[in-house]
Amino acid sequence: MKKMTFAVLGAMTLGAVLATPGAQAAGGDREEGKKKFYTCIGCHGIEGYANTYPTYQVPRIGGQHPDYIVSALKTYQAGERPHASMQGNATSLSGEDLEDIGAYVAAFRSINVNLPTHGDVTAGKAKAQSCAGCHGEDGNSVAGSGFPRLAGQYESYIVKTLQDYKSGKRKNPMMNGIAATLSEEDMENVAAYYASQKKGLIVIPE
Ligand code: HEC
Ligand code: HEC
Repeated sequence: MKKMTFAVLGAMTLGAVLATPGAQAAGGDREEGKKKFYTCIGCHGIEGYANTYPTYQVPRIGGQHPDYIVSALKTYQAGERPHASMQGNATSLSGEDLEDIGAYVAAFRSINVNLPTHGDVTAGKAKAQSCAGCHGEDGNSVAGSGFPRLAGQYESYIVKTLQDYKSGKRKNPMMNGIAATLSEEDMENVAAYYASQKKGLIVIPE
């Protein structure tokens, strides 16, 4: 794992830092994960890359917690989370592949994200008070908590995801209940608040 640090550092863009190296006891192998991520880079490695129909940006997963990456990929595999191309991308991955990919993508985190936002950041901050217990005050949730990091995530992806939880298209008992209480405006504002955080998720550097 020690020698990996240098390989990962070499691949990083300006402003990206290794998220507390060694602090996280990730089960997977980062070097293997990097190889296995090859087929994913075409979407998750391009700044601002958009999904079409509906149009929203492909989520930033650099720096996301490894346990959440694994659980997200499992929900696509199980067909519980609907998205044809992600289900296709996830099907052939073994349990070990999931761990390796999780360990690789979790190793990145930015300290100076600067994403454009449309919603009202101040109103979003107030609304996000009710999310802080799980997602963290600024959207940088605690590693290993099971709660995904939202800081630095694209506004369009957060809004689309909250709409999916509200409509029941994406299923999670906690988030379905919470999203049901949010108006369209609330969604746009909390999304703007999380997207405006300087320290957060990034696009995986090539
Ligand atoms: C064709 C583009 C494309 C490719 C290739 C692709 N993804 Fe995705 N990925 C997406 C989109 C779009 C979403 C959001 C889908 C949704 O709304 O559920 C997503 C979602 C995810 C998520 C969930 C993120 C979250 O915050 O919940 C993970 C994890 C992920 N992808 C990992 C991968 C991995 C690993 C690969 C390669 C094996 C891969 N993706 C390949 C487009 C892609
Ligand atoms: C009780 C804990 C809890 C609270 C409070 C909570 N969440 Fe979540 N949130 C979760 C969990 C668990 C998940 C992962 C669910 C899954 O796998 O689909 C999640 C997922 C999400 C996602 C999807 C992340 C991704 O990458 O796809 C978004 C967006 C989100 N929450 C926004 C919010 C907002 C906004 C609030 C406050 C209005 C909030 N959450 C409050 C537990 C919580």
